[in-house]
Amino acid sequence: MAHEEVGWSYVNDVVYQNNPKDRNEAYSRMAPVYDVQMKNVGSVGNRGLVKVAFHLVKNDETSQMLDVAAGTGWTAEHFRDSGYVGQIDGIEMNAAMLDIARKRGLYRKTFCQEVVDDSPLPVADSTYDVAIAAGAFLENHLPQGCIPHILRALKPGGLLIFNCRITEKNSKYQMILRDLLALLVSENTIELVTEEKIDFYQSSCKEDGKPMKAFAFVYRKL
Ligand SMILES: C[S@@+](CC[C@H](N)C(=O)[O-])C[C@H]1O[C@@H](n2cnc3c(N)ncnc32)[C@H](O)[C@@H]1O
Repeated sequence: MAHEEVGWSYVNDVVYQNNPKDRNEAYSRMAPVYDVQMKNVGSVGNRGLVKVAFHLVKNDETSQMLDVAAGTGWTAEHFRDSGYVGQIDGIEMNAAMLDIARKRGLYRKTFCQEVVDDSPLPVADSTYDVAIAAGAFLENHLPQGCIPHILRALKPGGLLIFNCRITEKNSKYQMILRDLLALLVSENTIELVTEEKIDFYQSSCKEDGKPMKAFAFVYRKL
């Protein structure tokens, strides 16, 4: 099997599970080979998101970032490689993925916990200058309703940065997400800083046989 076919079999295994328990088990299976398989399918969505947002982020030793659904720590690594010098905490529900992230030595604190829509994050309110979630706003991953909880963890003026894959399967999820964001904008809770289309996977994906794109969003908490 070609490299990218092997990679897609892992990606599809985690993306097409129907409940959190099965998805979590799929991530546990994938964790030891996650970085290699994501490279095999040309996963560039986290790097692209960091590129869109890096110049907007407060970057000094006092800056506090929360990496939501941190996985194996790729997004934090892209921030460090781009020159981010602040503190990074990570929250991730899969122990095997988080164990790899911790070993990268990029995080001050990590929390092995599921992010849900009906209870707050395990962090104090108004702590962070930046919250980033790469590759995790999709069905059966982060629930759209966790956004108010992430916002609570941000300081006023803090940035919420995330991407969301553009696929037929994710279109309903994305519509609900956009409705919630529009509501929060209309209530003056957040404002849109930028929305851009970025590459997500560079090899052909299962749904339409084309490289996948995503929207990259940056919102500011008001
Ligand atoms: C595609 S990976 C992306 C990881 C990382 N952000 C990156 O850019 O490489 C998605 C991660 O989200 C985690 N995840 C999914 N749903 C979650 C939830 N509700 N709470 C916390 N972590 C979650 C998964 O365990 C997995 O590690």
